[in-house]
Amino acid sequence: MSTSGFEARPSANPLDAALRNEILANPGFGRYFTDHMVHVRWTKATGWQRGELKPYGPLMIDPASPVLHYGQEIFEGIKAYRHADGSVWTFRPEKNAARFRASARRLALPELDDETFLGSLKTLVAQDAEWVPTPKNDAEECSLYLRPFMIGNGKSLGVKPAAEVDYYLIASPAASYFKGGGKPVSIWLSQHYNRAAPGGTGAAKCGGNYAASLLAQAEAEAHGCDQVAFLDAAENKWIEELGGMNLFFVYRDGRLVTPALTGTILEGVTRDSILELARDEGLTPEERPISIDEWRDGVASGEIVEVFACGTAAVITQIGQLVTEEDRIVTPEAGAEAVSGKLRKRLLDIQYGRAEDSRGWLMQLA
Ligand code: COI
Repeated sequence: MSTSGFEARPSANPLDAALRNEILANPGFGRYFTDHMVHVRWTKATGWQRGELKPYGPLMIDPASPVLHYGQEIFEGIKAYRHADGSVWTFRPEKNAARFRASARRLALPELDDETFLGSLKTLVAQDAEWVPTPKNDAEECSLYLRPFMIGNGKSLGVKPAAEVDYYLIASPAASYFKGGGKPVSIWLSQHYNRAAPGGTGAAKCGGNYAASLLAQAEAEAHGCDQVAFLDAAENKWIEELGGMNLFFVYRDGRLVTPALTGTILEGVTRDSILELARDEGLTPEERPISIDEWRDGVASGEIVEVFACGTAAVITQIGQLVTEEDRIVTPEAGAEAVSGKLRKRLLDIQYGRAEDSRGWLMQLA
């Protein structure tokens, strides 16, 4: 069932404009949140109810709820971009809406219809439009990061799907995900922990996958790395993805290779967009299994010339080196003229309205 419109209960105390502008000048990632949020409730008896826009604030969660005990939770990541004329747009939101429905199915949560999902983005961003940062130049990557999520709520310690569910949307002004801005990052190869197994929840965007990555991420940081890369759980041989980003390999002969979607990898919206844009750049995209040995040997022989991570939060970030327990696989630094630099610029130019949106990927929010 689709909900029509959202009841508006705006905050009586929005943050002072001077303080907001101070935050927008240096937002970091995920540290500050806007004045409002959206909430839609579902119960087994009523289905989805009419949603509301209300002040940002703590949630009412039953101490016996499925989200707290069994991790029944899903989320999305999507950005709102300010264009030069002041308007605000988002990128391929219908892909996030569809993935959110797919994640809901996998986690035995009710599917939220696309109209309500997209409507929630419009409602929150229209209300908190002043929180969308304005980039100072074409190189600056700032946006309002939108985080839709759904939790199993209600009093129920039995291991079964929640009979009361809440959908929320919150928003956070964001700069680069990585502290080094656009600089190449270093990656730690997790050789003892896997992120997802066949038949598991790897393709769903659920909190549990990210919880499972945290210890390996801590190991990465202990080794001086920015992020962790996971191998497949069956053979510990095939490259899957990073803690929260997909991976791409650029070959000297113009092939652009990314691990195939096997059910254990998240179907990234940025990943899909890069595969489409690659052909415009004269590249040959390939989705197939790629092993850790191919990464190591390809870099050593010079066949692999660039490696990069991609995601909504990370956009496109070059990987300078992969650190393993045995060795370091160092890809030479690639300049802005490199493939990853060109793809990054193409993507950002579309998102910020600096290039024609010939594929109809943008949706106006405010
Ligand atoms: C995103 O890129 O939006 C993600 O969800 C990755 C991470 C920040 C959780």
